[in-house]
Amino acid sequence: MILVTGGAGFIGSNFVLDWIKTVGTPVLNIDALTYAGNVANLASLKNDARHHFERCDILDRPAMAALLKTHHPRAIIHFAAESHVDRSIHGPGAFVQTNVVGTFNLLEEARAYWNDLTGDEKKNFRFLHVSTDEVYGSLSPTDPAFSETTPYAPNSPYSASKAASDHLVRAYHHTYGLPTLTTNCSNNYGPLQFPEKLIPLVIHNALQAKALPIYGDGKNIRDWLYVGDHCSGIRAVLEKGRLGETYNIGGNSEKNNLEVVKAICAILDTHHPQGAPHEKLITFVKDRPGHDQRYAIDARKISQELQWSPQEKFETGLAKTVTWYLDHSDWVKGVTSGAYRQWLDVNYDDRQ
Ligand code: NAD
Ligand code: DAU
Repeated sequence: MILVTGGAGFIGSNFVLDWIKTVGTPVLNIDALTYAGNVANLASLKNDARHHFERCDILDRPAMAALLKTHHPRAIIHFAAESHVDRSIHGPGAFVQTNVVGTFNLLEEARAYWNDLTGDEKKNFRFLHVSTDEVYGSLSPTDPAFSETTPYAPNSPYSASKAASDHLVRAYHHTYGLPTLTTNCSNNYGPLQFPEKLIPLVIHNALQAKALPIYGDGKNIRDWLYVGDHCSGIRAVLEKGRLGETYNIGGNSEKNNLEVVKAICAILDTHHPQGAPHEKLITFVKDRPGHDQRYAIDARKISQELQWSPQEKFETGLAKTVTWYLDHSDWVKGVTSGAYRQWLDVNYDDRQ
């Protein structure tokens, strides 16, 4: 059995579904079900005995200890986090709690559990920490891409909290020998992403003929990674990664935000012609404070050491993603409740 934290969120639920399909061994899925967690993401596993879900906060240390003891996992894959940069600007406290204190709790309980293991179980145990390229800070358009040796320079409360958690993971390997692995990846997109992040937000707004808000001049650049490729990258690191190492995972798809939004509009013009051309909804709004200019990933290490590379092209991945949202209006309805609308007021009202 593997233990996954945050497995009801966007990447975590894609990872659990992918794991059950490709590897097929049991998963203990621990998630606090914050606004970002959604058990409906896992509906297809309802009658699958290989998936065991526990609603649990990683801040609850006794509960984490008990779950480790009862389920005896061979690995922990740690996704649980507060993940949205804009929310971290409006309320950084939750980010420090979950991302820093929560990761610390998990490391402490993992260390105690691992210390009690013996033989092959001890040798083969892994703690894989899922992190972000944002810990490396911001690049100019001509800087070389982030490598695993790029110094940390986080700029938002979100990225600072993730950087802190990465440092704790590193220290637990260095000091206690805990068999850790860390992955730092770029912007994910794909099915089941909560519509607060750029791509699903733009699809959701366009389908309602609402403004498509572009922060600043729309020239900020992100590297886009299809979520299925992220899942296979994590599996490769878990299987073959060297202990204590970090691996960058990227999609080889640098785009500026305006290009991304225009590409979504073009796909919608074909698949949902009502309201075309959707580009007319593009609206430039007040920038995000401290907005990082560019992220880019040098993924040579994972490619050369572990023979992993992304399989999805941005154009095909984006088309699949838009189609998924068009085909899953019930899922979208389920997650865009009153709390979601309150968030839109908090984040967008003073940007006009
Ligand atoms: P998400 O916000 O969609 O999901 C996070 C999940 O964690 C939710 O299910 C939530 O309920 C759960 N959670 C939050 N606090 C918790 C707590 N205290 N205890 C237990 N569960 C809790 O996030 P995501 O986009 O799926 O990101 C997953 C991980 O990948 C995060 O660690 C994030 O930093 C990292 N990451 C994300 C991206 C991206 O583009 N989305 C890119 C790089 C790295
Ligand atoms: O780089 C990896 C990171 O990618 C992850 O660690 C984070 O968890 C994830 O949220 C994501 O962070 P970003 O801030 O890059 O993602 P977001 O979708 O919020 O924004 C992408 C870009 O689009 C960014 O430059 C801000 C811009 N944007 C975003 C929103 C929500 C807009 O222009 N308008 C918007 O309404």
